[in-house]
Amino acid sequence: MISQQTIDRIFDEVRVEDIVGEFVQLKKAGSNLKGLSPWGNEKTPSFFVSPSKNIFKDFSSGKGGNAVTFLMELESMTYPEALKYIAAKYGIEVEETGENKPDGEEVSLRESLAAVNNFAFEHFEKNLWESTEGKQIGLSYFRERQFTDPTIKTFGLGYAFDDNNAFLKAALEAGHNEDHLLKLGLVKEGNYGKYDFFRGRVIFPIRNVSGRTIAFAGRTLKSDNKVKYLNSPESELYNKSKVLYGLFEGKRSIIQKDLCLLTEGYTDVISLHQAGVEYAVASSGTSLTEDQIKLIKRYTKNVSVLYDGDSAGVKAAMRGIDLLLQEGMQVKVVLFPDGHDPDSYARSVTREVLEDYLQNESKDFIDFFIQVLLPEEKKTDPAAKTAALRRLVESMALISDQISRSVYVEKAGKELNIAPQVLHTEINKILRQKNRKRSYDREDDYEAPGLAAQLAQQSLPEKDGPEAQLIKEKEIMRVLLVHGNAEMKLELETDDSKGEEIILPVAEYMLHELSLDGINFTSEAFSQVIQIFRDKYTVLGSFPEVSDFVKDHILSAAVAELVAEPHTLSENWEAKHRIFTESEAEHLKRTACDPLIRIKLQQVLNLIKDLDGKLKESAADKDGKEEELTLLIQEKMRLNSLKSQLSNYFGTVIL
Ligand code: CTP
Ligand code: MN
Repeated sequence: MISQQTIDRIFDEVRVEDIVGEFVQLKKAGSNLKGLSPWGNEKTPSFFVSPSKNIFKDFSSGKGGNAVTFLMELESMTYPEALKYIAAKYGIEVEETGENKPDGEEVSLRESLAAVNNFAFEHFEKNLWESTEGKQIGLSYFRERQFTDPTIKTFGLGYAFDDNNAFLKAALEAGHNEDHLLKLGLVKEGNYGKYDFFRGRVIFPIRNVSGRTIAFAGRTLKSDNKVKYLNSPESELYNKSKVLYGLFEGKRSIIQKDLCLLTEGYTDVISLHQAGVEYAVASSGTSLTEDQIKLIKRYTKNVSVLYDGDSAGVKAAMRGIDLLLQEGMQVKVVLFPDGHDPDSYARSVTREVLEDYLQNESKDFIDFFIQVLLPEEKKTDPAAKTAALRRLVESMALISDQISRSVYVEKAGKELNIAPQVLHTEINKILRQKNRKRSYDREDDYEAPGLAAQLAQQSLPEKDGPEAQLIKEKEIMRVLLVHGNAEMKLELETDDSKGEEIILPVAEYMLHELSLDGINFTSEAFSQVIQIFRDKYTVLGSFPEVSDFVKDHILSAAVAELVAEPHTLSENWEAKHRIFTESEAEHLKRTACDPLIRIKLQQVLNLIKDLDGKLKESAADKDGKEEELTLLIQEKMRLNSLKSQLSNYFGTVIL
């Protein structure tokens, strides 16, 4: 277990914007930072980071919390993994206490697997640099390919011995579990026992965005080997459609350049990186997926697809481009001179020439499509032109941003000598068809509710149900957190009817009212927060503030959700929000009472619903006792009158 001191230090030092900023491109928005949700697929940012509160909130997915929660949610790290990741970033030494140090059970499977991969990574790397075989075969191969030592180290390249079980032996000796080796595909089970999966190959570790080795690729060194690359199978740690090779090494540069180069292979990424073009990634062996595009989108919306014009490559490139357009990316294409791929080209020219080439030779996708679909010799063939237009129109229809779609339509019209209006008409036809289809499968196409909808939902006087109850609980929690320590005036009725004014903190009043009415929260997290409010007040005489919850990875999520209410969604809203909280502060009594009345009313409505059920049963039961029915009816009358009293408070009747 990580010691409490270490945990405290981590939370003292971590800046949520540092951690989030590694994964999401953030821009300033008032006192907050905002960006595109890494979980959603959105065009307008609804992901917020509050540096002053040290929390993030994603309105599109509802996720929120502190830096640790962020890593756990986004990178599927465990709690200790996230803490260690942050500690490493800030150079905090992690102190582990002996207690609970597991014999196995306590460590999650994922952590054990990660440890195995880390061991394998170190093993292969050591082979490469320290063994005779590794140096003579592996290292000399890399050097032949002109990879420099720093490059080889940056990408953690390694070597697997040409031996049946060198790795297996080493791993078992180091105390790793055989099942885990099999699970990760590092060891296979054959007719004659277990054997190493990678043998006599150079190794490319595959890392996730946070730099953890999650899989390996092994390249053969024999030109006659039919299988050039062997790749780890998918595992608990590795989902190949969600990984981009080189993203970890290049993400900073991608943010700086606001551009990502998309290549086909490991060696393309490495050579480009070595040539100073670090903003390159590879989808490595799989055709580009939506998840991979989402990864890129965290850092930039601009992608240049680099490919080496063989015909299989062209087809794949076109498919990839469609997918990129659909995800709202700005797409360009760079073609390399005959016989060159990004790897060989990057090694054959200077850095300046390379950068110039990438800049000057990048075409927009219209030019690329026209070039592929309508080569010179077919330019005058009407059938070919029609077919090319159809294909182009399909791709343009994928662009949802109308302005950029128009720009492409103009351009395509000019190049192919056809009126833009004709293209628009065709595009609209496709869009209409899609819309029709969409109305059938709405579910797939679900978009997060807009701001107005979210707000409407919150103020809706819902009748019953856990959802309605939760909304009321949220509002109480929010007021407790924002105004808990503010002092409000309250008039007490006294016997001589003069009235007496007392001053007390908002939270004290609210907690008192809640316990008087025996109102319990359905949300586990909120109940915990309430308990912390009570405890802290008893001990210290003051109520906790938002910052008191940020350390807790579960509670911080609940708290972030409350204090980063949609009021912060835009600058405009922020301004309004200030007015809103200001007036809340002025009318503390209302601020404290409103949500209490709402939850009481909710409670009454819930009781009435229960009672109605009982009444029905009792009325249907012929042998039922008359008195019982009478009691139920009396109770219902009491609740109804309570309901109208409470409703009257708002001046509206809630039916
Ligand atoms: N690939 C793979 N399995 C194979 C062949 C290719 O996974 N059997 C993937 C690898 O990610 C590879 C990419 O497809 O990087 C592109 O293939 P290729 O161009 O053949 O390999 P390069 O990376 O260019 O390797 P090299 O330059 O060493 O030939
Ligand atoms: Mn190659």
